[in-house]
Amino acid sequence: MRSQGSGFRRGCPPLPLGPGSVYIPLVNSPDTDATFTVTVNGRQHTVTTEAQRSLLDWLREDLGLTGPKYGCGEGQCGACTVLVDGRREHACLLPAAGAAGKSVTTIEGLGNGDQLHPVQEAFLAEGAMQCGFCTPGMILAAVALLNEKPQPTEAEVVAWMDAHICRCCGYPRILNAVRRAVAEAER
Ligand code: FES
Ligand code: FES
Repeated sequence: MRSQGSGFRRGCPPLPLGPGSVYIPLVNSPDTDATFTVTVNGRQHTVTTEAQRSLLDWLREDLGLTGPKYGCGEGQCGACTVLVDGRREHACLLPAAGAAGKSVTTIEGLGNGDQLHPVQEAFLAEGAMQCGFCTPGMILAAVALLNEKPQPTEAEVVAWMDAHICRCCGYPRILNAVRRAVAEAER
């Protein structure tokens, strides 16, 4: 009887070796562990985890940071967005080991204690959320935009945010919130 589970997904045990055979493990096998350090929301972690495990899974399952969401898992919706050294990244696609030596910010670490980040304030002021599933990613995307372009044009704002999907279709309010954050940053 065949064992349960796919060898493609879970990796395969080595086959018995014949005379003169050499077993070469797959370098990128999902079962290969990586050990590295990464800073998350200002706190440094030394991590040992599967080399191919996504940053999103590690943040959510091991650190309990559930702000970044699993939407599509394919880099198409932006729900999993985090900042890596201040730039937006899809945590569903980036292996946790890909953040080695870098600084990751999730929505949980964006503000300063009880003080919200100005972009969070702008989203609140505009009521730019309904179910809230996309909101952490939207806010971090707007922060990344301001990091890269402190004075974006309207077209640049729209093009930048267009990489994110809101299933509640809250786009007008979200755009207003980003415009408000841009205006506040220009003061
Ligand atoms: S869950 Fe990562 S982009 Fe959709
Ligand atoms: S507020 Fe519900 S998905 Fe955007």
